[in-house]
Amino acid sequence: MSEEIKKGLLGIVVDETTVSHVVPELSALTYRGYKVQDLCDKCEFEEVAYLVLHGELPSKKQLNKFIREERSNRKLSKTIIKNIQQMPKNAHPMDVVRTCVSLMSLEDKDTKDNSQKSNMQKALRIFAQTPTAVAAYFRTRKGKKIISPSKKLSFSENFFKMMFNKIPDKEIVRAFDISLILYAEHSFNVSTFTARTITSSLSDLHGAITGAIASLKGPLHGGANEAVMHMMKEIGKPEKAKSWIENALAKKKVIMGFGHRVYRTGDSRVPTMKHYMFKVAKLLNKNKYPKIYEILEREMLSKKNIHPNVDFPCGPTYYMMGIDIDFYTPIFVMSRITGWSAHIMEQHASNKLIRPLSKYKGEQVREVMLLNQR
Ligand SMILES: CC(C)(COP(=O)(O)OP(=O)(O)OC[C@H]1O[C@@H](n2cnc3c(N)ncnc32)[C@H](O)[C@@H]1OP(=O)(O)O)[C@@H](O)C(=O)NCCC(=O)NCCS
Repeated sequence: MSEEIKKGLLGIVVDETTVSHVVPELSALTYRGYKVQDLCDKCEFEEVAYLVLHGELPSKKQLNKFIREERSNRKLSKTIIKNIQQMPKNAHPMDVVRTCVSLMSLEDKDTKDNSQKSNMQKALRIFAQTPTAVAAYFRTRKGKKIISPSKKLSFSENFFKMMFNKIPDKEIVRAFDISLILYAEHSFNVSTFTARTITSSLSDLHGAITGAIASLKGPLHGGANEAVMHMMKEIGKPEKAKSWIENALAKKKVIMGFGHRVYRTGDSRVPTMKHYMFKVAKLLNKNKYPKIYEILEREMLSKKNIHPNVDFPCGPTYYMMGIDIDFYTPIFVMSRITGWSAHIMEQHASNKLIRPLSKYKGEQVREVMLLNQR
């Protein structure tokens, strides 16, 4: 048997999927065959969430039913709310959201049921409740009263309402909605692969999503949107951006929000998100970050030929919206639950235990010495 090692599973095709695809010739990412750029132009986030979960865009009737169900499942149990209120105020919100999904598994009547029907219902409940948990911790940490979800507001509007007790300009809400559309799904990235690996032992959807959240937290994956904003804040002003990046590259630092395992000539989601980031900056009259953005992008391209990924425009967009930096990856979770769930259902429908091999480089077989001989 060949023992060639492919560290990071680089270039290895491990399974089939119908959920999403990166089409290099079109410079596009597709969800269920639809270009994400087109979905951003023509759909609300809820339609895309339905598409990712169910495989087809919804009819009006299907969408209304989906929205009704999502809205009526938004409330968290008193136990989970109480847990959130007792969590340390300095916890990372990703750890909070991961714990909350784990807590949801204790209460869900279908946790153990891996049938397609139950998985879809559980996915919907986690999808509906996670923003409530994120916003509840956001407010609790600031010593503010938790705001209950509304049944009358869209997914994004309701999130703003629960976070800030007000809904911003509709263009701002649209920019947020766009970020959710762009974050919904991205084939076999590390968190999705984690979810599929957990599922492959015939474990359940709550467990797989909990594990996926832990995986998304890392700065080489979802955590990059937070790291981008820390970097931009450290740079501080556009005049400092060029020397900052020259210095960082001279020190061989990894620049957050740049590079991608799959896209080598640019992340197809970036032009759309960049457009909305610049729009938000204009609306809010905050032009510092677009300027820093342009300089970093230009320098990375000219010096390293490395393009930005979607986290690069997302970080400052959320910052300008007034969201605390450590909440950016939990927002990513709120959307990616749809992609993870679709993959978990796909894995359950055609499962094979994921169990790779390793090349052993430890000690050769040796004798165990008794304790008094060691
Ligand atoms: C995403 C990422 C992990 C992809 O990694 P990968 O596929 O393993 O690519 P590699 O790390 O092999 O990168 C190839 C080369 O580009 C360089 N490179 C890649 N991304 C870089 C970055 N963000 N900053 C500086 N150099 C970078 C690497 O140092 C490497 O250079 P070398 O060949 O001289 O050693 C990597 O680009 C990265 O760490 N980016 C920053 C984190 C980030 O934004 N993550 C979100 C992804 S959506």
